[in-house]
Amino acid sequence: MTEVTLVEVGPRDGLQNESLPLDVPTRLQLIEHLHDAGFRHLEVGSFVSPQWVPQMAHTEEVLAGLSNRAFNSIALVPNSTGLKRALETNIRTIAVFTAASESFCQRNINCSMQESLERFQPVIQTALENGLQVRGYVSCLIACPYEGETDVSQVTRMAAALLEMGCYEVSLGDTIGAGTAREIEARLKTLLTSLPADNLALHLHDTRGQAVSAIDRSLDLDIRTFDTSIAGLGGCPYARGASGNVATEDVVYLLERNGYRTGLSMDQLARTGHWISQQLGRPYHARAGLAHYNMQSLQTGKQP
Ligand code: HMG
Ligand code: MG
Repeated sequence: MTEVTLVEVGPRDGLQNESLPLDVPTRLQLIEHLHDAGFRHLEVGSFVSPQWVPQMAHTEEVLAGLSNRAFNSIALVPNSTGLKRALETNIRTIAVFTAASESFCQRNINCSMQESLERFQPVIQTALENGLQVRGYVSCLIACPYEGETDVSQVTRMAAALLEMGCYEVSLGDTIGAGTAREIEARLKTLLTSLPADNLALHLHDTRGQAVSAIDRSLDLDIRTFDTSIAGLGGCPYARGASGNVATEDVVYLLERNGYRTGLSMDQLARTGHWISQQLGRPYHARAGLAHYNMQSLQTGKQP
């Protein structure tokens, strides 16, 4: 069976967009449940400015609480201040993040696209020298909330620059879930003429319900890493209209039914999705997760 790697981003991308920050014990519990469900790559928080994203404050405390767990812990780092904070923890991987749109880059990290690359160059180098791995993000794979359609050549340029600087992988973000499956496939085909599939991941927000079919198509292009979020939590505080990431449960259903191996337990995912939705005071709406949860209740006569 072909293996596919899912990177769970709910504890970062999901929670960063909640109007009420969750406390550290609840953030920790979420990550522990996800680790127990089988995740080996988990975004646990961000070392960004707490003035900009208060929901991600105290990421240091989250990491301290996870010190007895072995997995690839990932946290966002926007600059050298963020890297300093990261180096004082036991984080394994930092994720630097930029965009294929000038306006998005400016609103998200307060610099131009070119400045972002210049800023990240020493951050990546120092991180690597200190034994950390570095992942990269390029937002606005298809469209920017401020500028509309983006130019695929800008996506290629930014992704190539991050790989060149030492990122082991670049995750391509359809930040506002604009692309259809065919559009994302077309962009990937162009990108794959100069970038290796092994070094690319897809990070799709499911704003318009297109993400699962886009992932299905991208499997045929040998993309094997996808960012997903439990219960479809998520968004981006600097991208109005960026609703949740594609739900982990929906992607696991797609993959496992089609013969790919994820190493994840749907029972535990559905339980966790249901639980975190309750914590956030919202209905559980990841479709495959909810169906699984309801079926388990019917079959066992009690809630899973
Ligand atoms: P800035 O205001 O230009 O920063 O923000 P500055 O360097 O001028 O510093 C201003 C103050 O912030 C200073 O403090 C710094 O020390 C402090 P003061 O002297 O005034 O007391 N500061 C920090 N504090 C803690 N940690 C730091 C840090 N840096 C500066 N790292 C900055 C620039 C990059 C910091 C800011 O724009 C920022 O934090 N942006 C992050 C925004 C963010 O997290 N966005 C969401 C994540 S991206 C996303 O969701 C998209 C993605 O999911 C992919 C997709 O969907 O497409 C990844
Ligand atoms: Mg995102």
